[in-house]
Parts: sequence; C-alpha cells; structure tokens
Amino acid sequence: MSDTRPYVRYSDAVEVLQPDEAEVIQRIVESMSRVNRATFERHGHATRDAHAKSHGLLVGTLTVKEGLPAHLRQGLFAEPREYPVVVRLSSAPGDIQSDAIPSLRGLAIKVLGVPGPKVLPEHREETTQDFLLVNHPVIPFGHVKAYLKAQSFAERRSGSSDLSKQVTSAVLRGAKHVLGAVGVENETVKALGTPNTHLLGQTFHSMAALRFGDYLAKLSAAPLSDEVRRLAGETIRGDTEADFSTLTDRVVTFFREHEARYELRAQLCTDLGRMPVEDASVVWPEALSPHEAVATLTLPRQDVRSPARRVYGDDVLSFNPWHCVEAHRPLGSIMRVRRHAYEASSRFRHEMNLAPRVEPRSVSDIPA
Ligand code: HEM
Repeated sequence: MSDTRPYVRYSDAVEVLQPDEAEVIQRIVESMSRVNRATFERHGHATRDAHAKSHGLLVGTLTVKEGLPAHLRQGLFAEPREYPVVVRLSSAPGDIQSDAIPSLRGLAIKVLGVPGPKVLPEHREETTQDFLLVNHPVIPFGHVKAYLKAQSFAERRSGSSDLSKQVTSAVLRGAKHVLGAVGVENETVKALGTPNTHLLGQTFHSMAALRFGDYLAKLSAAPLSDEVRRLAGETIRGDTEADFSTLTDRVVTFFREHEARYELRAQLCTDLGRMPVEDASVVWPEALSPHEAVATLTLPRQDVRSPARRVYGDDVLSFNPWHCVEAHRPLGSIMRVRRHAYEASSRFRHEMNLAPRVEPRSVSDIPA
C-alpha cells in the first residue's frame, strides 16, 4: 500500500539540546534520588523512584503484523514475527500507596530476543528492547525545565500520608493552587484526580517520541480483545480503602480466568512544528497522523502476582526506555533525562536490596 503522507525522516537534527540541560538533568536526578532514599529509609526496602507499586508481572508474546506498509515496517516491526515479552503493570507514584488514590498507571513491555547492538554501552550485548507506556497521551512536564519544577514540588510533598495524598489528588481534580504550584495547568494534571478506572481497560502511551526506524513516532497500546475492551472506562467505586484494593485484585482475578490482547500502535510524526519532539506535553493530532496498528500484545491466563513473580518484577527487573536498539532511540529532553534517572533508580534499588541486576534472556528466566 502506498502512502503519500509527508513522514518526517529521523536525523540527529530532530533533537535540540535545551538551555542548561546538563545542569537541569543533574538537579532532577539528585532530587529524585533524595526522595528515593527517604522512601527507602521509611520502608527498609528500596523501591522504584517512580512506578513503585506493581499490580502484576506477566509473560506473553508480541506478534508483528503481516503485510504492514513500508512506513510501518521499521525497527522491530520490519518483519512479521513473534517475540516473547515480559510486562509489568504499575501505578506511577514512587511510593507504595493505596489503590484508592487515583493515579496514572503504567504498562511496561520488555521484548525478549531482539537481535543487534543496543544503545547503552552497558546494555549493548543484551537482547531486550523495552517500551514504557502510561495511560495518558502526554506528559504535562514535557521538557526538562518543566519537569524540574514538578519534581521539586514532588520532593516537598514526599513522605506525606496516604490521607494527604488523597486530599492532594482530590484537589487536583479542580482546585487551582496545586496546579499553580507546579506552574502547569492542563488536562494531564487534571487527569490525576479523576475517578479510579479498571487498569486493564486503559489505553497506554509512550507520551514522548522515539525513533521509529527511518521515522519518528509515539507508541500506544489499546485494548483489543472483548474481555479488556469491555473494561474501558469501568469505574471502581467504594466507600472504604478495602473497596479500592480490588484494583490489584481485579487484575489478578482477571488473568486467572482470561487472556488479554492489546493492539500496539505507532503514530508517525508528519509535522515537527505541530508534533514536537522537544515538548512531550503536546498531543500529536490524529488528524495529522493516525495511530496505526503494528503488532498484537497477547497476555495469556496466568498467576500474575505469585510471590516469586512479585519479587522478580519488583526487585530484579529494570525497565528502561534506553534499553533499546538504535532504531527505537528515545527522543527529546524528557527522554534524555530518563537515561540518567532510570540508571540511578535501578542501581540504588538493586544495591540496597542486594538483588542481581540482570536482563532476562528468555521467558524461562521469569519465575511462575
Ligand atoms: C515520558 C514519558 C514517561 C513514561 C511513558 C514513563 C513510564 C514509566 C513506566 C511504565 C515505569 C515503570 C517501569 C517498570 O514497571 O519497571 C517507569 C519507571 C520509572 N520512571 Fe518513567 N516514564 C516517563 C517519564 C519519566 C521521566 C521524565 C522520569 C524522570 C525524570 C522518569 C523516571 C522513572 C524512574 C526513575 C522509574 C523507575 C526505574 C527503575 O527503578 O527501574 N520517568 N516509567
């Protein structure tokens, strides 16, 4: 199939270093590390700096679609084939908090058996390619300067109780002063305060851009099979915290009985002005370029939260957008800061928990 859209071609020039970027990145990473250390001191166990709470660790397959048009036959998706994957479902905060607190949720995919050298020198010989997705199309703090403001705000309120986090979350639903405090007032921040919905009915996004072979794209994963499509928008209600802990229980119960399929999609950049790489807070308009299916993510029935799975997912594994081949290099300052932030968080977590820092080579490395 021929396509006449003017897809922007990847070159080094699509990225533009931001003013004082190295210093801003250092301040973000230092602030995150301070918060992470304080969280460790409270719990006596190191967790991720972000997405600390897991709702399940799964194995499955990523099947690249047959007959893709040339603009989508890029990188991992160049040929129809099947890759084993490991998936971790999470909530965004860097602390273990109640499921009752509305929060952004994550779906991290580690694709196994990916040939070719990887971008990070220390990861070069590994065979994994990670795609990290969150259930919102954009990140409100879309470049490092904005992110530093948000991180400074987060550091000030870190350690607050679940109750105060609930209040903050409610405040985010409408009140202006919290939004003002981080210097941002937009739809993503408001989404943090929306009611709890079923995690498995969500559509998840890379929020920021990455290289897509010859082009640039944002990725997303949308519910495909009926069982997860029917969960889209399902609100979880309740009067007590116990009612809400069922968010995790629901995920566990779902996979005891059902398989889930999601469609992995790429939205290619056609206009760097209206679909910027250096500001990940901008929604790329679908009118300029649709989300196009490139692969199917299949997650069969399984026990997603056995003790061995939980420990392996939380303490051993590290998902990182920089665990990638050159064809899927993360782009923009918000991605460049992640190169340092994920390394610092993962190193601290593994050192403190005396856990091996290894990348799986096959699904047989993942405990049942
Ligand atoms: C731009 C879009 C972003 C997306 C889609 C995203 C998504 C995710 C997801 C899904 C996880 C959980 C991975 C897992 O299950 O292990 C995660 C972890 C993490 N994120 Fe992000 N994130 C984004 C931006 C950022 C930024 C800007 C920072 C910091 C500057 C950051 C810092 C972290 C850290 C430190 C971890 C934990 C790493 C570890 O200990 O292994 N993220 N992120």
